[in-house]
Amino acid sequence: MRVFSFLLISLLVALVGCTFDQSGGKEPSAKFYQKQMERLSKEALAHLSEVDPDSMAIPRSAHKDGSLYGTNSRSWTSGFYPGVLWMLYAHSNDTRFKEAALDWTQFVEKEKYDTHTHDLGFKVYNSFGQAYKNTNDNSYMEVVLEASKTLANRYNPKVGCIRSWDFNKDVWQFPVIIDNMMNLEMLFEATRLSGDSTFYDLAYQHALTTLKNHFRSDYSTYHVIDYDTLTGGVRNRHTHQGQSHESSWARGQAWGLYGFAMAYRETKDPRFYKQAVAISDFMYEHPNMPSHGVPYWDFNAEKIPNEPVDASAAAIATCGMLILCELDSTCHSKMLPRIDLSLKTLNSKEFFAHTPPFLLDHSVGNIPGDSEVDVPIIYADYYFVEALMRRIKLGKMIETKLAFL
Ligand code: GLY
Repeated sequence: MRVFSFLLISLLVALVGCTFDQSGGKEPSAKFYQKQMERLSKEALAHLSEVDPDSMAIPRSAHKDGSLYGTNSRSWTSGFYPGVLWMLYAHSNDTRFKEAALDWTQFVEKEKYDTHTHDLGFKVYNSFGQAYKNTNDNSYMEVVLEASKTLANRYNPKVGCIRSWDFNKDVWQFPVIIDNMMNLEMLFEATRLSGDSTFYDLAYQHALTTLKNHFRSDYSTYHVIDYDTLTGGVRNRHTHQGQSHESSWARGQAWGLYGFAMAYRETKDPRFYKQAVAISDFMYEHPNMPSHGVPYWDFNAEKIPNEPVDASAAAIATCGMLILCELDSTCHSKMLPRIDLSLKTLNSKEFFAHTPPFLLDHSVGNIPGDSEVDVPIIYADYYFVEALMRRIKLGKMIETKLAFL
């Protein structure tokens, strides 16, 4: 009986190996992803000695000449580099990552009181939230809770959303951008940490309002919805970083996909699941999606195919699809080929960054603003590392499930 069980399990494990490496070595395998994580960890470790902790030069992007574009903690991107280091520590258990992550994380703390931004999830949750996850130190949790209280102050009950930006007041009354879905994750976590359901309720309502007003009938998303604070109605549907108001800015689609996948995980509201899948369909079935699975910076960019791609959009979208796969195996047959396509391309030599401390090249920040075009950007690294870690974990989950069938 024992010998029979052993043979059966061996057979299933072998079958799983084939499932994960579906096309005889052409598609990425579990081993491929492990190797890529090792490559990234090695590279990031080497970078630690090349970039000294500096509160005024938190890595954001690279200038065209390869020099570092660093910022202080006020930039919406200040949490990503510490977050990358925390994830690499979680993956490798190498304390050199932890020491560096602690150094960079502390620079972001004062942002917990900044009432002028919606980006507190990006800044504080990706740094202090990761610090708490990896150390269980309550002082980091306190920073997350303080930032959540600050963020909750930007919620307007008439609109049913958290206000995104304070600039452009002569045009917008109450602008909400699709990116803001990402900041909800910290609020959901704040309820778990504090027991105060207010954070959860605001986040849930923000997601519902966004679902109602941000999308076109083909499930593409607008970038900016401007609300009337007296009626709660929509005043304008605009873009800020896309080609035009009616175009589909690639990173905006990716924020929406990740945001609704995460909101589904937190609330189990099936409308959010459906939305995330529909956004993935919009992106991956779009005639302008390149066959390698890394989208141009805008699906309606004028000079496609002679337009820059945005690696950050692919990395964020891939994380969103992985969250769906972690929750629901029925979407694997559709999502895994998309995930593996994008991740395989992002791991190809063409996308290696050559400017420390960055890992991934070819992202686009803001083309209409003529800034950060076709360069490495830190949030692409963050979601790239997250995606690889999630893909490795998902592979193991599938393997374990099949082995126990
Ligand atoms: N949240 C700003 C951006 O995606 O560029």
